[in-house]
Order: sequence, then structure tokens, then C-alpha cells
Amino acid sequence: MTVSSAASASVPALPPQPLTAADLSHDRDFARALDASDTLAPLRARFALPTLRPDLIYFVGNSLGPMPHAVRALMQEELDDWAHFGVAGHMGARRPWFSYHEQLRAPLARLVGALEHEVVAMNTLTVNLHLMLTTFYRPEGRRAKLLVEKGAFPSDTYAVMTHVAARGLDPEVEVIELAPREGEWTLREEDVEARIAALGDTLALAMLPGVQYRTGQAFDLARLTRAVHAVGARCGWDLAHAAGNIDLALHASQCDFAVWCSYKYVNSGPGAVAGAFIHDRNVRDLDLPRHGGWWGNDPDTRFRMEPRFAPVARADAWSLSNPPILSTLPLIASLAEFDRAGIAQLRAKSVRMTALLEYRLREIPSVEIITPTASWQRGAQLSLLIGKNAHARYEAFKAAGLMCDYRESGRGVAGEGIVRLAPAPLFNTFDEVWRAAEIVRDVCTRTA
Ligand SMILES: Cc1ncc(COP(=O)(O)O)c(C=O)c1O
Repeated sequence: MTVSSAASASVPALPPQPLTAADLSHDRDFARALDASDTLAPLRARFALPTLRPDLIYFVGNSLGPMPHAVRALMQEELDDWAHFGVAGHMGARRPWFSYHEQLRAPLARLVGALEHEVVAMNTLTVNLHLMLTTFYRPEGRRAKLLVEKGAFPSDTYAVMTHVAARGLDPEVEVIELAPREGEWTLREEDVEARIAALGDTLALAMLPGVQYRTGQAFDLARLTRAVHAVGARCGWDLAHAAGNIDLALHASQCDFAVWCSYKYVNSGPGAVAGAFIHDRNVRDLDLPRHGGWWGNDPDTRFRMEPRFAPVARADAWSLSNPPILSTLPLIASLAEFDRAGIAQLRAKSVRMTALLEYRLREIPSVEIITPTASWQRGAQLSLLIGKNAHARYEAFKAAGLMCDYRESGRGVAGEGIVRLAPAPLFNTFDEVWRAAEIVRDVCTRTA
């Protein structure tokens, strides 16, 4: 299977309209009717949904997406090619290993709204974050501040802090952590803009989340990038929870870089090869400082084995080593499923699923949804505060067949935790949304 052959499979018609409160219903037949008219419903059969129990509701695609069935056959082909060709597979394999990552450019670009030469599949997320910080965090004189969100995913915080320290600067001084207002869960974009403006010419780089992992809040990339550029700084995004979840327009957003992992909504398997975006204006600048490796060298001269690094004018220039074929391969299968559906279609279904979930959960007394209500301020995920015995309730959800996850609330309140539910439009159903809400209601009523 090639990516282009998968992409040519039937593409559904125009995205359905979002559901409004007036359209919604608690009736199970309503959810079933939505499934019956869902043109994307056949895609569910293309995934190996976990079989831990027959009635399992897998709402953790925001953590680890399920395996596309197509991976098995592709993996077998790859193993057969390795066995048959040995080193000659670099050029002779069905998907030659020399240029393996290149076949992912087009589907990755479609996934994140980029030009093909702006994206590359390489490494893993935190590694890519360090590579991008090397290039785009350029402290000079008083312009040395690095703005991040407070309560970011720990790996991002560790990366930023250690990176700044490795540059010989004091992270306690240079890293600015932006928190929501007292008593609020999510950041207001006008507050982020105000902080950026206040930092002014001291700001070197802002590194923000496309979708916040704990609250599910989605940010307006173009708006905040504009604010960062207005003070002469650079702007990068961690899209771990955004890629494959919301429809992104990275090129148009003008952001300098973005990084994401592929094992969540992109369904490419544990530790799968991650992705990076570097804006066209930056990939053209061959003088940008960066870490170099032979796979970032122009492929036309790579095998001349010359001592001088000649970066290619593509995002590939940031890749270091020859691609890990076996952990890149699932991306081929998974991105083909995105192409089959179309990200706009998926997003439209996702908005409807999350709207139905929110509508059903909102009526449960001890449940507080901390994810924003507006569809453009969130992706698939809803984050719930579920009272003081949150962990016990979470265990009860799982025992009833609802696979979701639990995160500390981060507020240090005893017993308080956040349960995240993420119905994914590629493989979840509206009826599962209905059933999930039923489980939450039953458990919360029983343990009130
Ligand atoms: C927001 C965010 N950043 C960083 C990471 C770390 O990713 P990796 O282990 O692929 O580097 C994760 C992992 O879940 C994440 O959710």
C-alpha cells in the first residue's frame, strides 16, 4: 500500500454541521442515529481496538491511539524486505530506506496544514523540542526570556529548563511561566497577549501548547504567534495533543516551529517517530544554528562523505540520523487513514462527539468540566473534576468499561484529580459517547 493509493479511497462529502444544544438529546436512539448517518463510521473497523473486555470504550486515544490494522501487513513487508535485501534495501526495498521519511511529507503536511518541505518525521517529541530550542532560542543581550505555560507537561518543562541551563543561563531568571488567573483553570488568550507585550524586547522565544494536555484547552496559534512576532521574538508550539486532533494551519499561522508526537491522536504506536514543522522562511535560512547530522545534509551530496555539513533547505535539515524504519512505518498506515477521512471531516465529527459528551455530562451534579465550552477552544478531550474521591471514581469508570485516564489536578487539593475523556472520530462512536456518560452518571450517583 502506498500513501497515495490510500488517499484516493472514497472521501466523504461536506463536513456535517456542529451540533448545538437545541439539536442535542439524551436519548440513546439519538446517538445511534448519529452513528447511522456517520460517513466516517466504517473507519472504526480499520483499527484494532483493545480487547481487554468486549464492551470496552476506548476514550484514551489522546494518550495512545489504537493500532491501524494495516500496520501488520506493512510490518511484515518491511521485515521481508530486510530479510531479502539486507543492506541493498536502502535503495531496493519496496519503500527504500534511504528516502523512507520522504514518503511521509505529503500526508504529514496535510495533517498539520503545512507545505511539504516544512515538515519532517524524525526522533521523538522531547528530542525534537531540544533541537528546535537550539535553533530558535537565541538569547542576545536583554532579549533572553523564554515564555512557557505554568503546569506544562513535565517533559517540556524539563527540556526548557535544562536547555536554558545548558546555554549557561539561569532558568529561574530567563524562563517565564504563565499561569491562569487565580481560581481559573485555563489561560485567557488576552492575558497571554498582554504578558507577551509586557515582556517586549526581553522576550526571545515563546513555546506554547496547541492543546493543553491537562485541561484540553486549544489555543489560537495564529493569534498568539502574531503577538509574539509583534515584539520581535520567535514562537514555537508543542502539538502533542493537537496533531490529529484539531485542524491545524501551521504554515498560515506563521509560527517558527512546532513539534508533536505520533502515538496519541496520530495512532502510530508506542514511541512512534515524531513530527516537526519548521516554517518555510526558516528552512530557507541555511545559516540558522542547528545540530547537524548526515540525514540533515543535502541527500544529493550525502554519500560523498564530505567533512562540511551542507543542510538541505527543508525541514529534513534538522534530522540527524538515518530514519528508524520499524518505528516510522506505522505512520504510513496511520496517516493513510487520516487521508481516507480528511482532517476537516474528522474534526467536524469530533466537534459533534465532544458536544454530545459535554451535553450529557453537564447534567451530572458532581461533575465539573474544566475544558472550555467553545468548540474552537478545545479538541476532542473533555477534562472533568469529579469530586474529592476522584481516583476511586476513576477506578470505577474503568471497572465499568470506560477506559479514560487520571491526572493530578496540580492544585495540591487532597483527593482532587482530573479525568480526561477523549472520543476520537476515527474509531469511536456516538453510542460510546452516550454509554460513557451513562457510566460517569451511574458511578457518580452511586458514590455521591
Ligand atoms: C504535551 C506533551 N509534551 C511532551 C511529551 C513527551 O513526549 P515524548 O516522550 O514523546 O518525548 C508528552 C507525552 O505525552 C506530552 O503530552
